[in-house]
Amino acid sequence: MTATAGQQSTVNICEAQEAGQHHLVSARGLRKTFHENKVLDNVDFDVDSGEVVTIIGRSGSGKSTLLRVIAGLTEPEDGDVCLDGRLVRSKGQRTDDWNAGASLVGMVFQSYTLWPHMNVYDNLTLAPRKVLHMSKSEASDRAAIALKEVGMEEFIKANVSQLSGGQRQRVAIARALMMRPRLILCDEITSALDPPVAAEVLGVLTRLKHEEGLAICLVTHDMAFAAKAADRVVFFSEGLIKVNASPHEAFEECGNAELKSFVDAVRFG
Ligand SMILES: Nc1ncnc2c1ncn2[C@@H]1O[C@H](COP(=O)(O)OP(=O)(O)O)[C@@H](O)[C@H]1O
Ligand SMILES: [Mg+2]
Repeated sequence: MTATAGQQSTVNICEAQEAGQHHLVSARGLRKTFHENKVLDNVDFDVDSGEVVTIIGRSGSGKSTLLRVIAGLTEPEDGDVCLDGRLVRSKGQRTDDWNAGASLVGMVFQSYTLWPHMNVYDNLTLAPRKVLHMSKSEASDRAAIALKEVGMEEFIKANVSQLSGGQRQRVAIARALMMRPRLILCDEITSALDPPVAAEVLGVLTRLKHEEGLAICLVTHDMAFAAKAADRVVFFSEGLIKVNASPHEAFEECGNAELKSFVDAVRFG
């Protein structure tokens, strides 16, 4: 995408929002290169409010980088990002609206990024209190609500080191909920869990979608979840979105040979 075209698409994204076509996330022309490796090669990506999008694809295809760019953990070389009608990134650069927009997005990772030597309450409240100067009572209220939403309210005083893997991931989701995001980005959050535990964690996400209207973008190798619970499946390959379709279209009707061979490889090893 040229700079001029990028500019045009920016205007179009935000105009579309004003016209009532609400994409929660609109990304256009994202580019990211690591050592001449085009990891995001002019990617356009949208997420609607309350939508569950699963992102699938081979290891190294750029899935994590896409999530990290949206969350602001990786800086792209180019691209525009609109979050809930706010242009937060233009031609790769953060705009003045970055902080307001970015607070709409939470992220959860595969490996537990909780502090193991602290209890659940401190894990949830420390950053909001120290970094955002949230009051103690506000942080406590939010922690109680967030833990309830993931079914972990009884564990508020528990030490993280005493929790199982599935419980830790539910606490990690609760931590992301502390900032009251509209979108949660999940990067292989169930990969290290046994299937029944993984199903429980994914069940928490599905409930958050239905009860709270949260949008969820989930990188996963769990094809059953992608087929059942997702509104949309995005297949990533070599820095490009090759398929962007409903689960039924993606898994039953898609003529994309690369996707088919990927799904067979994941299903049958
Ligand atoms: N910080 C980084 N430095 C250098 N290369 C990176 C970095 N992050 C990712 N890459 C490379 O970018 C490619 C895509 O990575 P990633 O987005 O993590 O893929 P996926 O999540 O689909 O496995 C890989 O080749 C990876 O090695
Ligand atoms: Mg990854």
